[in-house]
Amino acid sequence: MRVLVTGGAGYIGSHTVVQLVAAGHQPVVVDSFVNSRPSVIARLEELTGEQIETHSFDLRDADKTSALFAEGGFDAVIHFAGLKAVGESSQIPLEYYDNNLGATFSLVEAMRRHGVRTIVFSSSATVYGEAAPVPYVEDYEPLAASSPYGRTKVMQERILSDVAATGELQVALLRYFNPVGAHPSGRIGEDPQGVPNNLMPFIAQVAVGRRQRLQVFGDDYPTPDGTPLRDYIHVEDLAAGHVAALEHLAAHPDLAVRAWNLGGGRGTSVLEMITAFEAASGRPIPYEIAPRRAGDLAAFWADATRAETELGWRAERTIEQMCADTWRWQSGNPQGYPG
Ligand code: NAD
Ligand code: WQD
Repeated sequence: MRVLVTGGAGYIGSHTVVQLVAAGHQPVVVDSFVNSRPSVIARLEELTGEQIETHSFDLRDADKTSALFAEGGFDAVIHFAGLKAVGESSQIPLEYYDNNLGATFSLVEAMRRHGVRTIVFSSSATVYGEAAPVPYVEDYEPLAASSPYGRTKVMQERILSDVAATGELQVALLRYFNPVGAHPSGRIGEDPQGVPNNLMPFIAQVAVGRRQRLQVFGDDYPTPDGTPLRDYIHVEDLAAGHVAALEHLAAHPDLAVRAWNLGGGRGTSVLEMITAFEAASGRPIPYEIAPRRAGDLAAFWADATRAETELGWRAERTIEQMCADTWRWQSGNPQGYPG
């Protein structure tokens, strides 16, 4: 399949591009580079041995998006493009609604105009909200999210589902848990701009000496060691989940819309992650206990049985591999991507 990968220069998109090529598909990247670097593409070409056709523009530009589809000959779309920082989304909510919803409107309109039906969408476990029982199951309603970022995901799921109900789209809603890790080559990985919001890149930057110490946001949660439990998933497993979902949609043309959790089905604490990263890197991770971070939940993880039953996919890689691969990337690229 010739697959348009929106946000294909980003963290999860770049890993998925490599796996699409390995599975015999032809990815085409469109990215505005608002949160990624053009030098990612050279690394993708090095890893795949293929030229990666890349288009640099903002998907909200409806004319450029439509023109890309007019020429593109795409069989399907994997839609990663979006802004994703939970905290920032409360500071600049309008930018989040405008970027995330605007990109999706423009994209879906171009798909409709040019007869492309199949879309795999990057959703998030955050759509389950604060009231959902753990483990999260896909049929849980009502979806709710506690940040503007999360609400853009709930809204995009609704919009895509409503269009799918007309028969014009075929949609996979992939709800990711906590993506971490990097390609085992150490050539591509997560490269947050500024201070990392998420645990794993922060730990990695402490280990490599870019930051002095980690703050552990609360150790008084009702969990075994008092720190929150999350369902960390290796980005390589996540990328494989996209290929599986894409191929499932292609094999089931009558399927209109379906949600799948992409998680490992178990929780790991913040302190367990620190210990695992120290072992993988051989570096100490100095940390201090800080107040809880607003909005954090004590514990959640996926019920991942639907993806296993229907897609034949499950998360295989261990916490040790997640830490070892992150460390290979971070130690080989202490300042992230060049330029
Ligand atoms: P990322 O920021 O690394 O990648 C997103 C890419 O989209 C970036 O390269 C960015 O430049 C591009 N982009 C953003 N807005 C655009 C626009 N309007 N037009 C064109 N390109 C645009 O993020 P990621 O971690 O790879 O996440 C990919 C997707 O998965 C996002 O939609 C995110 O919300 C979702 N997601 C991420 C996580 C996570 O923890 N990383 C968890 C759940 C869901
Ligand atoms: C994990 C744990 C923190 C940083 C977020 C989004 C979610 C999804 C994935 C997009 C928590 C603790 C963190 C630090 C810490 N993204 N922590 N010190 O919040 O589970 O999920 O990313 O859809 O929607 O909310 O991930 O990595 O930020 O935090 O103690 O410096 O690490 O308190 O317990 P989170 P995270």
